[in-house]
Amino acid sequence: MRLSVIGCGYLGAVHAAAMASIGHDVVGIDVDERKIESLSKGEAPFFEPGLPEILAEGIASGRLRFTTDMAEARGAKVHFVGVGTPQQRDSYAADLTYVNAAIDGLLPYLEPGDLVAGKSTVPVGTAADLAERVAPTGATLVWNPEFLREGFAVKDTVDPDRLVVGVPTSTGSVSGSGSTTDSVDEGERAAQILREVYHPSVAKGTPFIVTDYATAELVKVSANAFLATKISFINAMAEIAEVTGADVTTLADAIGHDVRIGRRFLGAGIGFGGGCLPKDIRAFSARAEELGRGESVAFLREVDAINLRRRDRAVDLVVAGLGGAVFKKNITVLGAAFKPHSDDIRDSPALDVAVRLHGLGAWVTITDPAAIENAQRLHPQLNYVADRDEALRGADAVIVVTEWDEYRRELSPEHAASLATGRVVVDGRNCLDAAAWRAAGWEYYGMGRP
Ligand code: UDX
Repeated sequence: MRLSVIGCGYLGAVHAAAMASIGHDVVGIDVDERKIESLSKGEAPFFEPGLPEILAEGIASGRLRFTTDMAEARGAKVHFVGVGTPQQRDSYAADLTYVNAAIDGLLPYLEPGDLVAGKSTVPVGTAADLAERVAPTGATLVWNPEFLREGFAVKDTVDPDRLVVGVPTSTGSVSGSGSTTDSVDEGERAAQILREVYHPSVAKGTPFIVTDYATAELVKVSANAFLATKISFINAMAEIAEVTGADVTTLADAIGHDVRIGRRFLGAGIGFGGGCLPKDIRAFSARAEELGRGESVAFLREVDAINLRRRDRAVDLVVAGLGGAVFKKNITVLGAAFKPHSDDIRDSPALDVAVRLHGLGAWVTITDPAAIENAQRLHPQLNYVADRDEALRGADAVIVVTEWDEYRRELSPEHAASLATGRVVVDGRNCLDAAAWRAAGWEYYGMGRP
């Protein structure tokens, strides 16, 4: 099928390449010339395992190309919109500038019967508004949220857990579309086209949920709100563990055995960051308030507050470990990305901790297998070292803030001790073997652990 993908950032670039990899003829469109140039050469503009391979394969097969010219969307049967919806500068609400610009840019090229499939994370109610703008062209708007995780984006796109499609319904989501039966038929036809797009997943039996616009939009934000809540829940337990001498990792293992709870996303530490969870829970709170239901998700403010407190805690542990002051101490920060397998530093708790230590007068050296260049652009005042061992040399204290295998599995405490000057290690991700580090002479501090 001929597809266009508007927006070739994280979501869009992966989606375009993944759709080509399952046999579609795809054009990716973005206003950023540099991004298009790099994608056209088969180079991923960000770190994502597996993406360079499917980009190269798609381009070589002739099924995948990239352009800055929106007119090339003409003729595609489905137009995916995957542009960013960042947090507004002066409020918690989502900024819809890019979504609006993408739809406006696309309108002249839409043909009757086309589908416009929104994938961006938007405040509930957005799809209904956009549908009204698309309706005069004879195209149909659907909402098809994306649940991909960075680091696993290719797998999550090619083989998702579930597919969700919000379609026009009889409850008046599309103005001027005629009778109830018309909208139901239009919705069924739209869902059928998306089943064809995602044919390998559909054939495999992946749940394919067809619903209305509002539900589809809410599925996305509520999934992220739930995940953020799960992380802050365990971090709240870590705070209690810290004053009682309990161990939050054992607690998480024990409650995680209950299948109703589950162990995943119960990793206590310096908390969540990235381009999605923090901004999505804030935008959800802002939208709920606009809808007069702020109290329904008031707990998300607490989720956010607990999350941010964990960064303070990590800094406090380093300060305590160094005897009460970090001024002019050499501190090696292992990690900068908001999580492993990513070069993304958006709202990275890891970098935030590093910046705070620097602010306290420490000499901070940061290393990361993928995110140094991005981090350096944002915080040039810090000292960056590509080589892990080089970064560890002469450290008075070490803090692990991103649980890359390079630190978690491949760094032995004995080897670290041979490089560092001091023996203080703060495990901001509870990812090290505390007993092994202690046995090697380190003073080990975990998050929510004795
Ligand atoms: C998230 C959602 O998982 C994904 O479904 C959605 O589409 C986009 O947002 P992502 O931002 O890639 O994906 O990262 P995720 O793996 O969810 O991790 C988010 C943050 O939570 C990271 O900073 C991670 O370190 C942290 N985290 C995760 C914890 O602190 N503890 C955990 O147990 C799990």
